[in-house]
Amino acid sequence: MSLWLAENATPPARRYTRRIIVCNQKGGVGKTAVAAGVAAACAEGSDLKVLVASQKMTLLEDLEAADVDLDDVQIQDLDEVHPGLGLRVLLVDYDPQGHLTSQLGIPQIPAKQPSLAKYMAGTVQQGSAKDLIVTVADDRFGGRLDVLPSCADAFLLDIMISTDRNRQATLERVLKPLEAEYDAIVVDCPPSLGVGMDAAIYYGRRRPDEEPNNSGVLVPVQAEDSSADAFELLIEQIDDGQADWNIEVDHLGLVVNLYDARDGYVVTSSLNAWRAVGEPRVIGVIARLKDQREAVRNKKALLSYAPNSQQAKVIRRIVREFV
Ligand SMILES: Nc1ncnc2c1ncn2[C@@H]1O[C@H](COP(=O)(O)OP(=O)(O)OP(=O)(O)O)[C@@H](O)[C@H]1O
Ligand SMILES: [Mg+2]
Repeated sequence: MSLWLAENATPPARRYTRRIIVCNQKGGVGKTAVAAGVAAACAEGSDLKVLVASQKMTLLEDLEAADVDLDDVQIQDLDEVHPGLGLRVLLVDYDPQGHLTSQLGIPQIPAKQPSLAKYMAGTVQQGSAKDLIVTVADDRFGGRLDVLPSCADAFLLDIMISTDRNRQATLERVLKPLEAEYDAIVVDCPPSLGVGMDAAIYYGRRRPDEEPNNSGVLVPVQAEDSSADAFELLIEQIDDGQADWNIEVDHLGLVVNLYDARDGYVVTSSLNAWRAVGEPRVIGVIARLKDQREAVRNKKALLSYAPNSQQAKVIRRIVREFV
């Protein structure tokens, strides 16, 4: 009997490295900020005690909506204390603009050297993408946060991979061999909807036996009407890809970024409209605050520059919604 069980037991779901594709073709919505924040929140040491915004009331406007007198609220009371997640993370700068790379104080790859785009296109044979990786030197991440820096040649990525019959699989071809070394791979996408984006969406698909929501797309949006139009186009592209390649892409959620209720009813009603979308659901609202810009200016990860800021706490909440 025990032999029968041993031979016929349901195999445990295969564990895949999480692939988190942070995308939206609308520019400046916070893809890079969210990708860097999510990756950093995954990599914080498990020996650290970190502040996480409360699940119930992550934001002041939730309290306002609940008609709570804000003068009576001790904001600290809404924080939770958790250990860091301690995951090994690769943060991929998939945007030729290279903002992520430069914001972390890492040099961009010179145009003539091997790069992610060249490995995707198969135009360099020597070495591998592993050789390009730089570790973020910051005790908070204990050597667990790696970056694959950008190179300006990625401006030509769509052309470089256009003749590949399996062009949607080109990103996967390069990153899959690296997966064994990471618990999560976070891809910061450019503001475009080209062939390169197809490859990113394909890379984030649910693999055979992969648990739902282990991997997928994470979409930062803004509480503005134009953001809703852009989102429809993105959804269309994802839906087309799912149909064309017969795949399933999970939505990890929407992150409403750069939120400031003082901007008036267009913004507050847009937030309500995003919440009304239902699926994908809004998994976090990040306020427009100075800490993010200051972290960029200081070339540090936000979670390192301002670990106890409201933004850092909300980012940690967002990550714990799907990790
Ligand atoms: N919550 C925030 N509060 C304040 N500033 C923010 C916040 N999120 C992002 N920013 C700033 O807004 C600008 C745009 O953000 P970011 O670069 O992350 O957007 P993006 O979607 O990656 O842009 P692109 O489409 O160009 O890649 C940056 O200067 C960034 O530092
Ligand atoms: Mg960006």
